[in-house]
Amino acid sequence: MNKFCRVDGSELIPVNDFGLQPLGNGFLLPEQTSDEYFFSMQTGFSQSSLMFQLLDQPNPEQMFHENYAFFSSTSLQMSHHFKKFADGILESKFITDDPFIVELGCNDGIMLKHIASKSIRHLGIEPSVNTALEANKVGVNTLSEFFSSELATKVQSKHGQADVIFSANVMCHIPDINDIASGISDLLKKSGVLVFEDPYLGDVIKKTSYDQIYDEHVFLFSALSVSNLFSRYGLELINAEPQKTHGGSMRYTLAHKGVYPIEENVQTILQAELELGLDKAETYKAFDENVRKSKNDLVKLLSDIKSIGKSIAGYAATSKSTTILNYCGIGGDLIDYICDTTPLKHNTLSPGMHIPVVPYQDFLDRKPDYAFLFAWNHAEEILAKENTYLQGGGKFITHVPSVNVL
Ligand code: TMP
Repeated sequence: MNKFCRVDGSELIPVNDFGLQPLGNGFLLPEQTSDEYFFSMQTGFSQSSLMFQLLDQPNPEQMFHENYAFFSSTSLQMSHHFKKFADGILESKFITDDPFIVELGCNDGIMLKHIASKSIRHLGIEPSVNTALEANKVGVNTLSEFFSSELATKVQSKHGQADVIFSANVMCHIPDINDIASGISDLLKKSGVLVFEDPYLGDVIKKTSYDQIYDEHVFLFSALSVSNLFSRYGLELINAEPQKTHGGSMRYTLAHKGVYPIEENVQTILQAELELGLDKAETYKAFDENVRKSKNDLVKLLSDIKSIGKSIAGYAATSKSTTILNYCGIGGDLIDYICDTTPLKHNTLSPGMHIPVVPYQDFLDRKPDYAFLFAWNHAEEILAKENTYLQGGGKFITHVPSVNVL
């Protein structure tokens, strides 16, 4: 267990207790169940740094390894999103004549391949060896290591400072965020920018989407906490743009203090966060009450459906589903199987509750009466794709923003 640092060393006010949880992405084989890894998953809020985060986290080596199962490019929606993200950066005022662009956590190259294909100097830093290899295959220069201030120094001496450092759904995974922020500040040119996006705390609080909380998501950021964190390293928030991805994300742009004007929406978003109470402990207490209610409602709905002899499948073996299943104690008695399009997950068991994960085709063949939409963040794409299932009387269940049959 890794007692990682607090942003400013302050104590955290406990918020949620999700009990013992396995790794969100820890899909496993039947013969691996006897030594499955569990950790106590709790969250807390810091009144001084305004950070909402896990209290403890397993070591990163437990989570991001050569068999790491998450490949970004498996979702069409994400592929489009990252192409637009890359294009946006290339067209921005931050790009110089011969830019050097660094991505932290480039996964399978979903975003950086659009930069690499234009022969722009770039480097992807990706600790998971198997995803880094995929990135290499699509022409992305990759370094398979964890980013740190030490690595930032090495990168700088080999390639020079960066014009743009970007990252998507990575920063919230990194426990030693102070070291990362310090490394980024050193690696960035005076005119450089850090652009990163992560699931947004404001959406989690508003939608009670507590499944965004799992071992990998150490932090759930807000503009308030991001601004506070990076200002300790001489960077200021110059833009904040809400994104639809992951059920609600925020893209933050930061630069060295005083170099660029601050966009108007920074103030708008900070103000909205104060109105939502993201700076107040009682907001998180109310969130915890909503999470408990969501659990009770979900277990009741699934039990009621099962008691009248209907079948329920899980739709998409997401990391997020691990929190729901283990926190709510939902196992094979309520959900018969989980279908998923990722071959690497087929014939595995879901972490902790050990529900079989089967190929997507099984869902089409077995036509369950109900399908629990674990990938609720891709609802639009999935509901459009599953028109035939819906027309045939199939129904989707969601728990976001409240437990419901769609
Ligand atoms: P995530 O991006 O929310 O973590 O979801 C990733 C998982 O969802 C991945 O294993 C693929 C699976 N998935 C499906 O099985 N069908 C789908 O239509 C979508 C969008 C994702």
